[in-house]
Amino acid sequence: MTSNIPPPARHDSQGIPMHAPGSRLTTATNKYKDTHPVPEKPHVSPDIEAYKAAHSGSVGPHSDAWWAEQARENLTWIKDFTIVRTGGFPSEQELKENKSPSPTLPITWFTDGTLNACYNCVDRHAFANPDKTAIIYEADEPGEHQYITYAMLLNEVSRVANVLKGMGIKKGDTVTIYMPMTWQAVVAFLACVRIGAIHSAVFAGFSAESLRDRILDCQSTVLITADEGRRGGRSVATKVIADQALKECGDANPVKHVLVLSRTGSKTVAGQHFTPGRDVWWHEACANVPAYCPVEEMSSEDGLFILYTSGSTGKPKGILHTTGGYLLGALLTVKYVFDVHPGDKFACMADVGWITGHTYIIYGPLALGTTTTVFESTPVYPSPSRYWETVSKHGLTQFYSSPTAVRLLRKLGHQHVQDHDLSSLRVLGSVGEPINPEAWNWYNEHVGKGECAIVDTYWQTETGSIVVTPLPGAIETKPGAATVPFFGIEAEIVDPLSGKPLEGNGVEGVLCIKNPWPSIARTIWGDDKRFVETYFKPYPGHYFTGDGAARDEHGYIWIKGRVDDVINVSGHRMSTAEVESALLLHNGVAETAVIGTADELTGQAVNAFVTMKPEFSFDPTSEPALVKELVLQVRKIIGPFAAPKKVYIVSDLPKTRSGKIVRRILRKIASGEGDQLGDLSTVAEPEVVEVIKKKVAESP
Ligand code: WTA
Repeated sequence: MTSNIPPPARHDSQGIPMHAPGSRLTTATNKYKDTHPVPEKPHVSPDIEAYKAAHSGSVGPHSDAWWAEQARENLTWIKDFTIVRTGGFPSEQELKENKSPSPTLPITWFTDGTLNACYNCVDRHAFANPDKTAIIYEADEPGEHQYITYAMLLNEVSRVANVLKGMGIKKGDTVTIYMPMTWQAVVAFLACVRIGAIHSAVFAGFSAESLRDRILDCQSTVLITADEGRRGGRSVATKVIADQALKECGDANPVKHVLVLSRTGSKTVAGQHFTPGRDVWWHEACANVPAYCPVEEMSSEDGLFILYTSGSTGKPKGILHTTGGYLLGALLTVKYVFDVHPGDKFACMADVGWITGHTYIIYGPLALGTTTTVFESTPVYPSPSRYWETVSKHGLTQFYSSPTAVRLLRKLGHQHVQDHDLSSLRVLGSVGEPINPEAWNWYNEHVGKGECAIVDTYWQTETGSIVVTPLPGAIETKPGAATVPFFGIEAEIVDPLSGKPLEGNGVEGVLCIKNPWPSIARTIWGDDKRFVETYFKPYPGHYFTGDGAARDEHGYIWIKGRVDDVINVSGHRMSTAEVESALLLHNGVAETAVIGTADELTGQAVNAFVTMKPEFSFDPTSEPALVKELVLQVRKIIGPFAAPKKVYIVSDLPKTRSGKIVRRILRKIASGEGDQLGDLSTVAEPEVVEVIKKKVAESP
């Protein structure tokens, strides 16, 4: 290792240095009055000077050597690369020239190198440490946990890979995964990448309609699913939803084979049937194939996976990540942000169907050879102690969760935390939404007992891995601040009016990133043009995150939330347009405007204003039933997590003279700021505003 890589940190129990050997952290002084002191724990890595040195080595004109070294040291390559990176973010001139999609894209990292992500996540650890636990599977019912070793993982992944091959899957094909939080979901992902297939995982909380759209968009010929899911003591009819999605694909259905995991052993779920020739049980198929499958040699820039996410418009975007750069970003962030060492047991409580699950349940921890956790249940099943029972039962060392979960558990009271032995924990992470200082402090005091590093990690589906975050031990934290850019990230606060980066501290604007980093998305599946227009056109020469942000007087970055039409409910990202489209599918709905309002528990909540068609008759007595119907409509079209908290049926919506709905006004009214609407001169019929104010005020 060179001197610009963060130094010291050693694992006490095993004595195998994963980071360079050296002394313990010495930064204990509390530099800023209002900062949280660095915890004194044995596994923290560098101090702020080491961070600065490493960060400056990881960006700028001389960073290729830094990245080349990281890539060679941490990943196993089949063929070494000679080119570290090519491409960049298009400048204004380049965008004007309108070359398709842009002269500086595509972005590539390690492009002439070859590797296999599954080999990196499984084989190399299975050879070195076959009996090490790769996955702790904490099933929905307490007591039903399982430990899956690296050797077992290699065997199961190989078998499923062979099954997929038998279904005709080859390098470059897409496979859709619609699975509950079982350890076999991890197997499904890795089996795809073992044979060079690109997986497209769809969160199992999505509806049949959402699954259908995602299958059609990437044209998967194979779907991997399960009979049922289990969550919070209840069953979810996963296969029934999958069947419905395929039925709804109609004649365009590309899926030829469905591989079905028997999670609950239910063969009699209502409406479920096996389609002969199409559906096969996972365990039966795996029993009939060899236990080993060789890995496919992939170019660093070959597609690894597609993951659909929401943007400003209604149609979800299939974000494409590629092999070498993504895997390196995932691995390095687990290593440094969570200060992971051999023997650690890493736990990310997200769902594998979202990017956090992809990167921090599967690829990051497993590429590093760590023990990872698949948690099937909820924070409150069977009681609000579930997380803490799980931590103490397995001796988890890192715990990565969401502000919504922390807020919920805080509300339920610290008596659920206090009787559990949480001394194994060293790092507590937060992701998905801004964490309010009250929640941060509770997490720190009651879970971390004031001794753990708290890492508020900011990133996105598109960034692939964490981009703004504290590093345990190196960066003093402030409750609510994501703090500093990770290695390779040149974060800039850009003035939205002039489009120019704001220099110095004490500034606020939109968050952009200068220059590509290894794990940035490479394109939107099948739509390079939209990729350029969404992320690079708004601020030429930059990647635009869509988030507002400030840099405080100490140079720390604070994330302020989305500046576009994206709503973030409990860390679930959706566009207002998606919810509006779902409502418009109801035959009585004429017009709708969806907005996000602040919510104490979920961060934001979906609020919908709806007008009905004149011919659709309803009266005040049937209104509650209609509201219920509209909420159900959204649940059915998108999924339960997108259900509006409030639906206001109104006679008209405030519009400009050109007919554009003025959402700003609706946002204010729904947030209880109806008396601070400001200038209404742009509204064509201001009396509409009064009617809506009355409606919201009278709503229960
Ligand atoms: C938000 C989730 C504040 C942000 C990894 C971003 C955050 C969106 C944080 C991406 C954080 C994520 N503080 N906001 N620490 N982390 N966000 O693609 O608005 O599901 O743009 O990725 O979540 O959501 P996504």
